[in-house]
Order: sequence, then structure tokens, then C-alpha cells
Amino acid sequence: MAQIVHLNGSFLPLEEARVPVLDRGFIFGDGVYEVIPVYGRQPFYLEAHLARLGRSLAAIRLANPHTDAEWGALVRETIARNGPDHQALYLQVTRGAAPRDHTFPKDATPTVFLMASPLKPIPPEQLEHGVAAVSFADNRWLRCDIKSTSLLGNVLLRQAAAEAGAAECVLFRDGRLTEGSASNIFVVRSGVLLAPPKSNLILPGITYDVTLELAARGGIPTEVREVSEGETRGADELWLSSSTREVLPITQLDDKPVGTGRPGPVFRRVHALFQARKRELSGSAAHA
Ligand code: PDD
Repeated sequence: MAQIVHLNGSFLPLEEARVPVLDRGFIFGDGVYEVIPVYGRQPFYLEAHLARLGRSLAAIRLANPHTDAEWGALVRETIARNGPDHQALYLQVTRGAAPRDHTFPKDATPTVFLMASPLKPIPPEQLEHGVAAVSFADNRWLRCDIKSTSLLGNVLLRQAAAEAGAAECVLFRDGRLTEGSASNIFVVRSGVLLAPPKSNLILPGITYDVTLELAARGGIPTEVREVSEGETRGADELWLSSSTREVLPITQLDDKPVGTGRPGPVFRRVHALFQARKRELSGSAAHA
């Protein structure tokens, strides 16, 4: 079944979708995006993703080309036109095509693109044993709260992690934990779940919010506060969270085991709550 995407008001096969080379997304990375997990053909926390899209657009001073109801309809039609039950819905808005000039064009029309790809299953061995991560200094810009398509910093960091044989990086800025290259990071110490607070230094992850919501529901003590590099390195448990990886245990950081070197009990509890929440909202089993 051909992958059908949405581009500027039309649905068409991916291979036929074209944007002009002067699109500011191509020239400047002048755009924002979302990745929405879809379980059993139901978008997970769609309203929260659309609210964040609205905040990203406002932050780059680009008028939202659609109402939430229109976005919802586009998202649902993109899901409906594609095969798999579990999808990663990618949505991007750029400032459109215009002669190359850093200042905003006066009359460009935003480019709107939606694409549904199969959601890759989480490998069972990653849940069983956890994944390795490597640490780096967070050398990205100071507006990491904007979900911008300008991802060169994140791309270079993730590539460095991959070349070190790791699944993700853990980033520190000024001695404090920020996040991963494409995920948020949680720490568990003495049974308490620690999460760095939302600020300009991290992406306000939707899965981060879901994780905190589930921890509260499960009665897990939680503190949203700055987490030092020392606390991170000495953690009992370390996890990452993202729309495509759910919650995933990090059991090795820079060649050293995290805690016991095995996924911990707090992770297992939140992971089970996460699977239950997916079933509750989609009537569907885990995509793993
Ligand atoms: N990335 N931090 C960064 C830098 C991210 O790129 C992401 C997600 C997250 C987690 O956010 P959420 O829980 O809303 O997915 C945190 C997506 C999945 C991506 O770029 O593919």
C-alpha cells in the first residue's frame, strides 16, 4: 500500500510530494514540527500535541494555518489513508517559499506537510535489558523549548551517540541534566522520580507530561526540579521518554552501569501504567 501524505491541501503518494527549493524549511530550517504516536489508529494525546504546535508556531511568529479542528481532521484523514494500526504521525509547518532573505517574507504561504509512517515496535530486549547512553555537553541553542525543524545540534549529538554504540545521549548544561537528543530524561533516586523542569533548555515533551501524570496516578513520589550531573550519574534508574520510544530504561551511561544495571522497579511500574493508558485511550494492545 503506497504511503499517502498530505501537502498543502492535497493527499498524494509520498513519491509525488514536492516542495520548491526556496522553501524556507529547506533554506533556513525555518519551521516547526510534531511527532504524534498513533495506537490502534487513534492519535495519542492529540490535543496536547496540537497545543504544543500552537506554542511553537507562536514562538517563531508564524500564524497557525489551521484551527485545532482542522488539524484534527487532517491528522485523522492521514491516519485513515495509511495502512498500519500503529503509526508515527509527522506534521511540519514551514514559513513557505520565498526569495532567500533572512527576514520574514511578507506574503509567503506556509507549507503544511503530514506523513504517517509505521511506528517501529520497541525491541523486547530493550525493555528487558535497557539501552546504553553516552553523555555530552549540551551545545544546542537556548530555545530548545521550540519544536523546530532546525535540528542540526540534535542530529550531530545523536550521530555521536550512535557511533559510540549507544541508543541516545544524556545532555548536561552547566552541571545540570537537560534532556536527550530526541527524548526527555528521567532519574530515579531512592524511589523518587526526578524530572528536570520545563524551561527554554528542554523540549516540553508530551510523553514527559504523560509520564508525570501516570506517576501521580500510581502514587510514585515525584520531584520536578533541577537535577545535577552527579545525581544523574549516581542514579538508581535512568529512563528516556519520547513519542516514538514511549518510556525506555537506560541501563548504561558512558560504559558504567546505571544502578543495578537492570531496568528498575519504578520504571517497570510506570511502563505498565503507560501500556494501560494506551489501551484505555485506543482500545488497542501495545505496539511492541
Ligand atoms: N522527538 N526532547 C527532544 C529534543 C525531542 O526531539 C523529543 C521528541 C522529546 C520528547 O518529546 P515527546 O514526548 O513529545 O515526543 C524531547 C521526536 C520524537 C522526534 O524528533 O522524532
